[in-house]
Formats: sequence, structure tokens, C-alpha cells
Amino acid sequence: MFTERAYAKLNLSLDVLGKLPGGYHELCMVMESVDLCDEVEIELRRDGEVRLETAIGWLPKDRRNLAVAAVYAFREALGDETLGADIRLKKRIPVGAGMAGGSTDGAAVLRALNHLCGRPFDADALRRAGLTLGSDVPYCVAGGSMLAGGRGEKLEKLPMPPDCALVIAKPVFSLSTADLFSRVDSRHARTRPDTRGLIRAMEEKDAPGMARRMFNVFEDVLPRHCGEVGVIRGALLEEGALGAVMTGTGSAVFGIFTRMDEAEKAAVRLRQDYRDVFTARFVDELEV
Ligand code: C5P
Repeated sequence: MFTERAYAKLNLSLDVLGKLPGGYHELCMVMESVDLCDEVEIELRRDGEVRLETAIGWLPKDRRNLAVAAVYAFREALGDETLGADIRLKKRIPVGAGMAGGSTDGAAVLRALNHLCGRPFDADALRRAGLTLGSDVPYCVAGGSMLAGGRGEKLEKLPMPPDCALVIAKPVFSLSTADLFSRVDSRHARTRPDTRGLIRAMEEKDAPGMARRMFNVFEDVLPRHCGEVGVIRGALLEEGALGAVMTGTGSAVFGIFTRMDEAEKAAVRLRQDYRDVFTARFVDELEV
């Protein structure tokens, strides 16, 4: 059994620049990996079968699960139909949170298979295989501090953000990605993130400046029933967060704290109202 960690991602910023041919949108996002992770245990099979086990009964076990789809994408890139895998997935990243949980599991499977098969692919080839699974998978191949453009697959390395403590909380509901994109499309005048200013604050290790500039365009167009996103943001700020924002297409919200003891205290308060509450730290890019 080979074990690979699959780190969650958070968006420090998310901007939608316009529409791309093929129904996708051009994005501009500052992405960070955090140490909240799933674990993927994997063993190669030589009979082409792909099996997934997980303690979460309602998760799909077929190709709709990106961990399974990743095996098919890998073996297609390799041109070896006999390649299969037994996968055991230990989920910790909340599902439907905007934290790339499924994408990072898929990327972890790609890395694990590449390792187990004697490294036939470099990181860019894994990212290309990953893009067939979803827009966030290329980023998740190595994670770290990145500016993502295009569909999400154009990646530019950024400096690591200043060291800080994070609290992540997810409301019980999840949001529809397609619905949020159409809401952004129909909005004419929109507030946009100051992505350059955010990156400058990261370069200067200016945590308050970074936290102040965090912004996600989807948070501006949330349907009426999503008031809890704002409630969580308010609770994080009240507990002393330097800034708080929704990640990706939600529904998780995270706050940035100077110290882990403050973050832990805020997490205790949020756990009174929410089941999915985590403390975390940023993690650097993986070597692939
Ligand atoms: O690529 P992925 O399968 O994760 O995307 C899910 C959906 O999100 C797409 O079908 C599309 O509606 C939307 N999307 C988009 N533009 C992107 C990424 C995703 O419109 N860059």
C-alpha cells in the first residue's frame, strides 16, 4: 500500500474575467494549499479493475469520483489498459466546500500512480492528464502558492503568504457551481479583487494587508438562502480574524489569524454552531 496526502486548497482571491469558448470561464485566482488533507492509500492492480473504498457511504465509487477517474486518465496517458488500482480514501476535507477536495484526491492518485509506475511522467504531463478530470486538478498536482489563470490550469508560482493560522468553517449547505457562474455572468457592475495588491502584500509578508485584500466575486452574488456565509465571516472577524472570505464556489469560509491560539479559540466558538470547523496552516508546493 502506498499512501499519498491530498491537501485542500483555499482561494485568497477569485475573479471571473469573462467567458471562454466551450462553456468555461476565464479565472484569475490566488490559490494556497493548506495542511488539512485527505489520505489516499493505493495499490496497483494488473487486471484493469479500479476499486474505491471509503467510510463515507454516499460518495460515488465510480468514475464520478475523481480518485477513480484519475486512474483511467493515468492509464490512458500511459497507454496501458491493464493498469488498475485498489484505492482506500480517508476523507477529511469537507465535500462541496470550494476546497478542491475531489480534485486533490484525483491529483494525489495521479502522483501515487506515477510513483508506483516508476515515474513515467513529469509534473506538467500529470497536470495535462489532470485537466481532463477538472479545472482545479492541474493546480492540485503540486499545490502551493499559485496564481491560476485560464480555466484554472495556467499556473504561475507566487511567494508563500506570511505565516498565519487559519480557521475554516463550512455551513451545512453546498452551492451549485454552475448557478454561481451564471449569477456572475448576469451581473453587470461588479466589485473585483485587487489581485496585484494582494500579491504585493504576500511578497511583503504583510498579513493584515493580505487579509484586507482577500475577495471572492462569488460571494457578491450568493443566493438569498446563503446568509450563513456572511454569518460565519462575521463570527470569524468578531473572534479577531484579520480578514475572512469564502473559498472557490463555497460554501466554506476561512479566516486568517496572527496566532494559532487565537485561531483555536475561534474554532471552539464556531464548533458550537457548525460541524465542519478546522484550523490549518498554509503548506508549500510539493515536489513531483
Ligand atoms: O472543470 P470542472 O469540471 O471542475 O468545472 C465544473 C463546472 O464549473 C463547469 O462545468 C463550468 O460550469 C464551471 N467552470 C467554469 N469555468 C471554469 C471552471 C469551471 O465555468 N474555469
